[in-house]
Amino acid sequence: MKVQVCIIGGGPSGLLLAQLLHRRGIATALLEKHPRAYVLARIRAGVLEHGFAALMREAGCGERMDREGEIHHGLLVAHDGRVDRIDLARLTGGSSVMVYGQTELTRDLYEARDRMGGITLHNAEDATPHDLTSDAPYVTWREGDTRHRIDCDYVIGADGFHGVCRPAIPRAVLREYERVYPFGWFGVLSRTRPVSPELIYVNHPRGFALCSLRSQVLSRYYLQVPLSDRVEEWSDDAFWTELRARLPAEVAARLETGPSIEKSIAPLRSFVAEPMRWGRLFLAGDAAHIVPPTGARGLNTAASDIYYLYHALADHYLKGDDAGLEGYSARALARVWKAQRFSWWLTMLLHRFPDSTEYDRRLQRTELEYLFSSENAQRALAENYVGLPF
Ligand code: APR
Ligand code: PHB
Repeated sequence: MKVQVCIIGGGPSGLLLAQLLHRRGIATALLEKHPRAYVLARIRAGVLEHGFAALMREAGCGERMDREGEIHHGLLVAHDGRVDRIDLARLTGGSSVMVYGQTELTRDLYEARDRMGGITLHNAEDATPHDLTSDAPYVTWREGDTRHRIDCDYVIGADGFHGVCRPAIPRAVLREYERVYPFGWFGVLSRTRPVSPELIYVNHPRGFALCSLRSQVLSRYYLQVPLSDRVEEWSDDAFWTELRARLPAEVAARLETGPSIEKSIAPLRSFVAEPMRWGRLFLAGDAAHIVPPTGARGLNTAASDIYYLYHALADHYLKGDDAGLEGYSARALARVWKAQRFSWWLTMLLHRFPDSTEYDRRLQRTELEYLFSSENAQRALAENYVGLPF
């Protein structure tokens, strides 16, 4: 089989790129190592910046998002016995975010790909890119005992943090930057009415908490927990009790609780790999960078990679212009690092660090006081939260 672009990884990055390219008549194949049901069972983030939402519409996948997603014009921060609001719309001259689950978005992308008859190969085992520095790269994979091969012009590594594409770049070329945080986020999804129409980020002496939502009948809550905690050790009751203890009293009083639909603990990590291109391999999304979820940048940073890569490949195939491909890594990384900075800053601002000193805690309180006393500081938060321009 021969295609123009072979995409490894059927998460949001790979799917969105495949969809955008397909619409411009560029032939793609998409390899995903898991069955679709497995990919669609993963509960991930749910805040889309407007640039991402625009890209979904451009991919012809925005209809359900626009119907069911919620536009949020602000967010709340509970700290030091107060609740302050960041007015995203006012501070950014009208920008907002779209609250729509990544799981739903991924489903929409798969369905759109099916409708267009795109090549999607699930259960692709041992996907391996070859000859990446030649002008005829190819990808092999296995399905049971049968080995397959796809020839292509370009390979896209959209295979997430644990994928095979980043390690295909020689150690001498690849630079990795990493920070691991000494805690995780325990997330619970429940069929309950959200406690607040807007997200509440909570800085509390017992640890960070977040009240989020998927819809008016589906809530998503998180607690900062030690990395040694196991989901099985946490009963639903224990989760709700701890969440209530971290919320302001008037919010805790109206918290609706119910059985959890999904529970998981995720570690927090900041990570960047450079460069994002090696020969004919281009990395995108979690394959190249990870952020802690605090600023909801993960999915959105994947989207900016896809935006640059989509335009670069379209320019190559439709105009014979390779400037976008040549500049992809530097351009994507410039925005990636800004998302790293913002996610790190918000994580430092809102969490309790086990090894922090009195000095560190005073500094954190001062940072929060400064934030809510300065319109400029709030604007800096807001412009990052709604998404820096692509
Ligand atoms: N071969 C084929 N597919 C693979 C391989 C492989 N060797 N390794 C991983 N995959 C698949 C995974 O099963 C997964 O479906 O690649 C996909 C990668 O998807 P994600 O991990 O969701 O990464 P990405 O598409 O870049 O999505 C952006 O940013 O912060 C996050 O939550 C956010 O997951 C979102 C991500
Ligand atoms: C979520 O709803 O899962 C969510 C929202 C905002 C974040 C992180 C996660 O910052």
